[in-house]
Amino acid sequence: MKALIPAAGHGTRFAPWTTLIPKEMLPVGARPAIALIVDEAIEAGADEVVIITSPEKPLLKKWFEKEPPKAKLTWVDQIDRHGLGHAVLQAAEIFENEKDPILILLGDALVSGGNASAEMMKVSRENNGASVIGCEEVPRERVSRYGIMKMAEGSFDGRVFTLEDIVEKPSLEEAPSNIAVAGRYLLNPAVFSYLKDQRAGVGGEIQLTDAIRRMLAEKKVFGYVYPGKRHDIGNPQGYFKALEAMGENG
Ligand code: G1P
Repeated sequence: MKALIPAAGHGTRFAPWTTLIPKEMLPVGARPAIALIVDEAIEAGADEVVIITSPEKPLLKKWFEKEPPKAKLTWVDQIDRHGLGHAVLQAAEIFENEKDPILILLGDALVSGGNASAEMMKVSRENNGASVIGCEEVPRERVSRYGIMKMAEGSFDGRVFTLEDIVEKPSLEEAPSNIAVAGRYLLNPAVFSYLKDQRAGVGGEIQLTDAIRRMLAEKKVFGYVYPGKRHDIGNPQGYFKALEAMGENG
């Protein structure tokens, strides 16, 4: 299984730190955040991890030269940055002919309290290898910051549900629920055929959410409310929470 970590973002919410140190290189205990995310992918079964990064972030490569991971690492440079969907698309050549679902771990999302990716793999296996999106409940007033999921009626068993629709950063009025995409995806490679002609969406960016939404017409997708806790290290408060939860063992 191959995993993909988009890690090319500017880190504007954590400036000016991120003009000096990429957010993925912030220390969480003895190791940088990106190393913990690579570990999560490998523990979940990835034998190749593709990291989308930018030539402005040489520190990421330097770390893994010092501490080589137990899987093949492949680097893809993203020069222009037009959103998460655009970042993922940079690795199309590597992934589009894969048979298995592709594990995508956002480079600024750490998860404490269990390996969310491994749990999602299990849910996928139990459902004929279908796509699974890791998600979490968020306060209603925050739905406009996330991809928000609509569950198929009657499908929710407390953790897993069938995805009926998904919308990126909806207004409070438009949001179909308060269940948000939470930094982890296990996606059928067909998603690349949708990303290739995906038009810009909210914020003028090419949204992964919009490509998933179109893929729903063809492929079954499940949502999975994983038991762990997501920490957004792209801002000081989230980073602090990640340190509290994971700093000791990082
Ligand atoms: C991205 C996704 C969004 C998701 C969020 C957290 O948004 O586009 O759907 O809910 O990550 O995983 P961003 O935080 O990059 O704005």
